[in-house]
Amino acid sequence: MTDKNKRLLAYTRTYGCRANVSDGEKINGILAEMGYGFTGGPENADLILLNTCAVRENAETRAFGNIGALVHFKRVNPDLIIAVCGCMVQQGHIAEKLRATFPFVDLIFGTGAVHKLPELLTEVISEKKRVTDITACSGGIVEGLPVKRGSALKADIPVMFGCDNFCSYCVVPYVRGRERSRLPADIIKEARELINGGVKEIALLGQNVNSYGKEHGATFAGLLREAEKINGDFRVTYMTSHPKDLSPELIDAVAESGKISRHLHLPVQSGSDRILSLMNRGYSAKQYEDIISFAREKIPGLSVTTDIIVGFPGETRADFEETLSLIRKIGFDSAYTFIYSKREGTKAVRLPDPVTAAEKSARFRELLGVLEETGGKAYGRYIGKTLRVLCEGEGRTGKRGYTGKSGEGVIVDFDSPADVTGEFVNVRIEEALKWALLGKAQTIRE
Ligand code: 5AD
Ligand code: SF4
Repeated sequence: MTDKNKRLLAYTRTYGCRANVSDGEKINGILAEMGYGFTGGPENADLILLNTCAVRENAETRAFGNIGALVHFKRVNPDLIIAVCGCMVQQGHIAEKLRATFPFVDLIFGTGAVHKLPELLTEVISEKKRVTDITACSGGIVEGLPVKRGSALKADIPVMFGCDNFCSYCVVPYVRGRERSRLPADIIKEARELINGGVKEIALLGQNVNSYGKEHGATFAGLLREAEKINGDFRVTYMTSHPKDLSPELIDAVAESGKISRHLHLPVQSGSDRILSLMNRGYSAKQYEDIISFAREKIPGLSVTTDIIVGFPGETRADFEETLSLIRKIGFDSAYTFIYSKREGTKAVRLPDPVTAAEKSARFRELLGVLEETGGKAYGRYIGKTLRVLCEGEGRTGKRGYTGKSGEGVIVDFDSPADVTGEFVNVRIEEALKWALLGKAQTIRE
């Protein structure tokens, strides 16, 4: 029997990218408004909710393992409600498989049903039945949902949802629907409230922010310019950009701004034109290089990071070497690297894929080696420079007292005579590690 006066507790976990994390913050906001408290583990929860990712197969395999393990908690507490949501379950075949494999899962809902969570949960509780809602998520945008944010210092603001690019390997357009943008006024209002409430870094998020605002006659460069007009000492970051849509206006907006991060995350995916074309990316390796040269000329000190996929169907040794050569030419600060993962429903599934998994793994290791070498060189350029760092708390490396990120998006651990958590600090860089810089605070803002 449940105690009627006890506050119900939710245990929620989100996997995957920042779009999913942002959905997770809305889900937590909705649950808080429904009266749920939160618990750090599943043992004493009344509701367990897993917000899943679909971008690669191993994310799905792990999710199935994690969901399977929850049966134990249901046995201990038959009143427990188990919910699974997010990109993975937005796929019909997965929702079906989940329902069939795990009869103890009470609620399955997709990315298009987040705002319906209260009614879906009510249906599960009052009618004691299993509920599934994976209706398409292209309908529109629901504004005004409550958000329970993970940080008081940094906030993610989605500016658009979905994706229209249909890169041939990617499941996102199928699980997050067609591209749709929020109104500039709604975004700026949210940003202003956050900054007035003490947030020091806002991140404007979308799968392809460069195509933001088409339906409203707005542009992403215009939105950035509006955001930086908000009063206060804060930083604006943004992601993800797409090479085919990156505009000179955006580069100008960043170059002319004191608040917009000098960091461009621009996924290249491959350095081979043949593979880029099979991926349906819409640019060549040369065009990518030209964009970076242009951006670096306009924005001194710009940091460039990227995403790379190894082992796309039919990738030859020669294609792979073109990727390595592009990496050496560009000199990325860092990169997210992936081995190609087959996603049902995407075009790439139908392409012949003769390269063995062992060969793909070997290429992946080689890629990491090259990135380490080029990243080390790129980080070396920061030594002796002073970077503006937003201090987030105790050091991450164990080598210095405090940690934060610079406007270039680089992790900086530094020593400071005073606790400057939550402040912007000028840090003189003394040493470069593989994934962080080390330095000393120079000036502390009054
Ligand atoms: N296999 C491997 N990597 C993928 N990504 C997206 N889909 C796949 C896939 N099927 C990578 C891309 C993208 C990043 C978010 O995830 O590099 O930019
Ligand atoms: Fe996927 Fe390409 Fe859209 Fe990125 S731009 S979400 S890789 S389809």
